[in-house]
Amino acid sequence: MSVTERVPAYFDHLIDGFRRGTVGRSVHLGHWDDAAGRAGEPMRPGEFERAQARLDEIMLEMADVRDGQAVVDVGCGFGASLQRIDEGHRHMRLLGVNIDARQLAICRELVPHRHNALRWVLADACALPLGGASADRILCIEAMFHFASRRTFFLEAGRVLRPGGALVLSDMFVAPSAMNPDAPRAAVEAALREGYGPWPDVWCEDATHEQLARAAGLRRVWSADATANTCPSHRFTIPRGLDDDGGDPGLRAALALRRLHERGALRYVYMRFDKAGG
Ligand SMILES: C[S@@+](CC[C@H](N)C(=O)[O-])C[C@H]1O[C@@H](n2cnc3c(N)ncnc32)[C@H](O)[C@@H]1O
Repeated sequence: MSVTERVPAYFDHLIDGFRRGTVGRSVHLGHWDDAAGRAGEPMRPGEFERAQARLDEIMLEMADVRDGQAVVDVGCGFGASLQRIDEGHRHMRLLGVNIDARQLAICRELVPHRHNALRWVLADACALPLGGASADRILCIEAMFHFASRRTFFLEAGRVLRPGGALVLSDMFVAPSAMNPDAPRAAVEAALREGYGPWPDVWCEDATHEQLARAAGLRRVWSADATANTCPSHRFTIPRGLDDDGGDPGLRAALALRRLHERGALRYVYMRFDKAGG
């Protein structure tokens, strides 16, 4: 697969939406503290953006970012997380990594008044252009499912982190153990890849990240199952009451994702892994 083929195609629409003002800075599902209470209700204006800000807040709290650190955001989207860090901290070395030059161009436009050393780099998450033991924190928010290999990314994170450093991530995957055994798996894969690809490893289990991290010299110190907290966001991407894709591949993927999520087969997790030492 060439680098261009690895840029998620759905970003064509997101970049367009961003330019038209219909898509915000964060590009992830967002976190709902009161997920059960909001189920089935229509989305109110600004609510999705608040949920997205909440997810960013959780990630940054978990990362325990401090003044003077080197922080890398892998799969940095439109730069929301690094901008938050830039606004709240000093003497930082901040680096956003993305495989999509168009998103990096938006990042550069949006953060002109930076308070810290801030760079945006075109690179693949599985081949980070960084020296060993050079970062205090790595963030990877809802991006890992796109990478060619979770295993390789964890090895890269283990290499790039300093002793005492931490990787904080959110990720989503489909757990085979939570699927109906009769479910047509090839159709699930095809729909998700068509709408949200690249998604090489659709199937993953709850323990997978911990095993991969251990092999990379990282120890899981925190994790949370945010499957229910992220589920209400589909109300934003799919019109209320709509249940038929009408042959539209984008809608087919969105409906497949929502159905899997509502059934708990699509898992959404938050995790922090530490590298010993420091
Ligand atoms: C769902 S978006 C999340 C963006 C951002 N982390 C956020 O939360 O707003 C996934 C991001 O991962 C990036 N990405 C996908 N594959 C990548 C790769 N192999 N290397 C680096 N970035 C990648 C995409 O271009 C996109 O910016």
